[in-house]
Amino acid sequence: MDLAAGLKGRHVLVTGASSGLGDHFARLCAAGGAAVTVAARRRDRLDALVAALREAGALRARAVSLDVADPDSVAAAFADLDAPLDVVVNNAGIAESGAAIDLPRDSFDRVIDTNLRGVWAVSTEAARAWRDAGRGGVIVNVASILGLRVAGGVGPYTVSKAAVVQLTQALALEWARYGIRVNALAPGYIGTDINRDFFETEPGRAMLKRIPMRRLGRPEDLDGAFLLLAGDASGWMTGATIPVDGGHLVSSL
Ligand code: NAI
Repeated sequence: MDLAAGLKGRHVLVTGASSGLGDHFARLCAAGGAAVTVAARRRDRLDALVAALREAGALRARAVSLDVADPDSVAAAFADLDAPLDVVVNNAGIAESGAAIDLPRDSFDRVIDTNLRGVWAVSTEAARAWRDAGRGGVIVNVASILGLRVAGGVGPYTVSKAAVVQLTQALALEWARYGIRVNALAPGYIGTDINRDFFETEPGRAMLKRIPMRRLGRPEDLDGAFLLLAGDASGWMTGATIPVDGGHLVSSL
């Protein structure tokens, strides 16, 4: 089965597409023949990505400004879409690290506002549009293995991602009746801006040794699971969370 073919002609929205995994997912969808709308706050980076997607022969590529933590911005971005969506990829996310006892007071809210409220705002906006138009849709949430197990020093992040796993199930349950499927990807550590500094440190290098497959993930390591969840090959899957982590979740206690 050609998983990428499942996206041919579909319109995919990728949030947080201005770097890292979002940029990668946008390129992957475009290469699979999808029309892609990339959304984030850094418009200059989105415009450069759109130019690259068009250059690579994308069916259609467009940028919309979006701050997922601001519900007004989410509503405005949906109003700005040029065509109905088929797939929404909730990828935007932030991490703030530090011991829980010493984190700045607003750190928890900042992480929750982006990683959890953002997924809620974008998903409900998309689902209302799909329900009102009498058509189904697909949502892929980017959670994390930190939503399934914990690590020290990233308390708000682990809580936000665990909530995304639970939200994936709650929305899958409510929205199956509208033909809307909601699943999540739970990546292990993939080298991107979000963690680049950490893997330069001693604890970061020590962590790599605890990954059974002994290496940091690459964005393309997620392609199989991402294409499965985004396309029709997962047509009878909803509410699932798939870890892709080099075995990190099954690392030895
Ligand atoms: P990244 O920092 O390169 O990308 C995150 C993107 O989200 C950035 O483009 C950023 O501008 C955007 N963003 C942040 N706040 C936003 C907001 N309020 N509105 C719109 N866009 C916003 O990091 P990465 O690694 O590409 O992260 C992508 C997703 O993958 C995140 O949800 C992250 O938690 C998740 N993830 C990453 C892992 C990794 O090891 N890199 C592992 C597991 C999950």
